[in-house]
Amino acid sequence: MTSSEIRQSFLDFFKAKEHAIVPSSTLLPDSPNLLFTNAGMNQFVPNFLDEREALHPRVANTQKCIRAGGKHNDLEDVGFDTYHHTFFEMLGNWSFDDYFKKEAISWAWELLTEVWGFPKERLYVTVYNPGEGDPAEFDQEASDCWSEVFKAEGMDLKIHLLHGGKNDNFWMMGETGPCGPCSEIHMDLTEKGDSQGSLVNGDSPLSIEIWNLVFIQFNAAEDGSYLPLTARHVDTGLGFERVAGIMASTSNFTDFSRPPSNYESDLFKTIFSSLAKMCGHIYGGSVPVNRHDLSVEEMRDCAFRVLADHIRTLCCAIGDGILPGNEGRNYVLRRILRRAVLWGRRLDLDPGSFSQLVSPVLDTLGPVFPELREQQEVIRKVILAEESAFDRTIDRGIQILDKITAKKKGGIGGEDAFLLYDTYGFPLDLTQVVARERNMEVDTEGFNKEMEKQRKRARDARKKDVVSVSDKEGGAASTQFVGYESNSLKDLETEVQEVIQSNDRTYIVFPKSPFYAEMGGQVGDTGEVVMEDSRIQILDTILDNAGQYLHHIEVDTVENLAGKKASLTINMERRLAIQRHHSATHILHWALRKVLGEHVKQAGSLVAENRLRFDFSHFEHPDSEQLHEIEALTNKRILENADVNWYEVPFNEKPENCIAFFGEKYGNVVRVVDIGGYSVELCGGTHVGATGEIGLVKIVSESSIAAGTRRIEAVAGQTAYGLMEGNYDLLMTLSQKLSCKPQELEARFASLLKQRSALEKELRGARKKDVAALADELASSASEKSGIHWVAAKVDVADPNEMRKLAVDVSQKLTASVVVFGGDFEGKASVLALCSPEAIKAGHKAGDIVRELAGQLGGKGGGKADFAMGGGKEPGKLEKALEDFLAAVK
Ligand code: SER
Repeated sequence: MTSSEIRQSFLDFFKAKEHAIVPSSTLLPDSPNLLFTNAGMNQFVPNFLDEREALHPRVANTQKCIRAGGKHNDLEDVGFDTYHHTFFEMLGNWSFDDYFKKEAISWAWELLTEVWGFPKERLYVTVYNPGEGDPAEFDQEASDCWSEVFKAEGMDLKIHLLHGGKNDNFWMMGETGPCGPCSEIHMDLTEKGDSQGSLVNGDSPLSIEIWNLVFIQFNAAEDGSYLPLTARHVDTGLGFERVAGIMASTSNFTDFSRPPSNYESDLFKTIFSSLAKMCGHIYGGSVPVNRHDLSVEEMRDCAFRVLADHIRTLCCAIGDGILPGNEGRNYVLRRILRRAVLWGRRLDLDPGSFSQLVSPVLDTLGPVFPELREQQEVIRKVILAEESAFDRTIDRGIQILDKITAKKKGGIGGEDAFLLYDTYGFPLDLTQVVARERNMEVDTEGFNKEMEKQRKRARDARKKDVVSVSDKEGGAASTQFVGYESNSLKDLETEVQEVIQSNDRTYIVFPKSPFYAEMGGQVGDTGEVVMEDSRIQILDTILDNAGQYLHHIEVDTVENLAGKKASLTINMERRLAIQRHHSATHILHWALRKVLGEHVKQAGSLVAENRLRFDFSHFEHPDSEQLHEIEALTNKRILENADVNWYEVPFNEKPENCIAFFGEKYGNVVRVVDIGGYSVELCGGTHVGATGEIGLVKIVSESSIAAGTRRIEAVAGQTAYGLMEGNYDLLMTLSQKLSCKPQELEARFASLLKQRSALEKELRGARKKDVAALADELASSASEKSGIHWVAAKVDVADPNEMRKLAVDVSQKLTASVVVFGGDFEGKASVLALCSPEAIKAGHKAGDIVRELAGQLGGKGGGKADFAMGGGKEPGKLEKALEDFLAAVK
């Protein structure tokens, strides 16, 4: 079977068992704790935890997964063996409180053995049996189900049914979350198939886990406890590349003489044939005996596997909008790309070769994941740009390493290795490779110390005014926010719940508040609270981790306030200005996606009363035409004056075109902000009622903040008006000064600049003539002694360079000469001497003359016998020194 036949037959099988076939979720996980989607179950976590209702009780799909960085990290193994991947597809079937172990187990067996023809005697199954301290109990139910299957097949339970502890048979996606016992199906791939289960979970490539059936029964809490779930679910994951590899390596189970390999399947062969054309070698399938000592053939085969694996990862991640960058998941992606480029160098690939592998990936995966085809231009551009930048990094890094190793013979210090890494992006493992080639060691301990220092610096820089007040019994009650409704923004009656002193600041908490607390990029509200006779300013509002709104007040200490009546009023003018910038941000986001592409995703945002900042993923500098279009589209939308609506809906019912920010955790109910039906985002912020209120948006800057991440800054409303007005006034002043209309300013400036350069040219010509006349004058002033012409003078020229030229001119006009000049240039004395060959023959040396003169001027100088220059701090003594010099000659 080909890989696509296998995938399709899996989906068809479960469709026949009444499963809804759903698309793969994106590789950008919903969960903030994950770097990438790493298992089919990720998108179903809220369904398992009963936070969101499942759309179908049974579903099946193929899920794109990346396991690199984080809890499940296979990156460093990839290439060295034939079954680890950074990117893979997981075929899965799920039950949400519907069928359970019996069906999951019998269907898995049916698909493997009856539909696909896996040899039964080569299959081994494990069930959960907790060791000491492990959670839950022996999985009797799964064990019974498997016993029935094996008995019906006439197979020996004692051989085919094995037990495993928490490590192998209790599945957890991360440290917390839905989890439960699992049953794994392993395949014996030895030539004779006679391992009798002895290789299961023994890290042997001849015994591979192919399917994991997880029975979700618990929710792991942060304190290490496992809370039983009321409903029970099924989550299975079948390794697609493994199944395709086994079928290909064994010619559909007919020949077990060759070692099994995932890379035998057509998924990788297509990439290998492109690679072979580029490097002129053929993939041989060898696996290293010793990872640290690779033969030439092993090295090449590892490189083939690394490149083929990594290009799939890069294509799929970028297709889902995750671009290589400097932090978190983006950095992991960058490392994967760099690892591929480095291995590519071992195949002597030309620069830019890695990005050429995008085509075979599109050929194999494009039909399955349509986003790859939609984003293909972005994928190619990003990979090529990143690859070229890294190629340059390698070349520059090697030059710097050359310098370091030339100076230090012993080894490469931690500081140097860190400098290479931090400033030049040269990875430590590459420094180690180069060091090894030169028989040198790298001080990795020193490197790690430097790295830790830098992390600390970053942590310190990030430290904010974190307030935590929820250590009371039962936790503090969260504040009710009433600031979306316009009639609650002024004179809202409430009472003081609590006064909190933290980090030298005083905060008041009320049970309800119209003040927006800083969140999602929008700054906190300011305003005032009136209590009895006192009127206190509220300087800012922030949220604590218990959901309480902390109103920062200007007074340091306030006593006995708790329980007092309070009336709250926000600074409305400021709030309106903030709202304008917030709605402007949404429209700008819409325009960015319209002009630059759908891959543009928010990467950070700040919404204040006088500016907005929006960070987004994009791989290149938008040109001025694009920026112009973005701004024009934004303002056009503003003029349409569409209504801005917001409402709350269950997550599952959010509009289809709604932009949700990945990495955010959304509960069952979400708030949708809809501007004119074209911009629909999940957002908790405050907004204008209709876009016309924004007035005007002006982009003020666009820049890069990290590779693949851009920043746009803009102003709206009154600030935008102020900026435009200021610029207009400036234009008017300039046009008045230049006596022209504003529209003529550009032409006027161009003509002024032209005039200036013509004048400069004229000036240079006049100066040249002056200098020529000066040379004649000085030459004729020469006095002769013993057949040598002597000239010594203080000259008035532009700079020491012109003085040197003048000296050469003068000496050329004279036979047998000594020419000595001095000049005062910006308060510093400069002297030079020129001795012709005849003068040198007569014993005169320019170096000696300059040394002597510079000494008198409070400085130093010297040089050769024919020419020397020097200088001093006391130009006032120049004339006298030169006079004395001439007098001494005479
Ligand atoms: N969650 C399990 C795994 O990833 C089964 O899907 O292996």
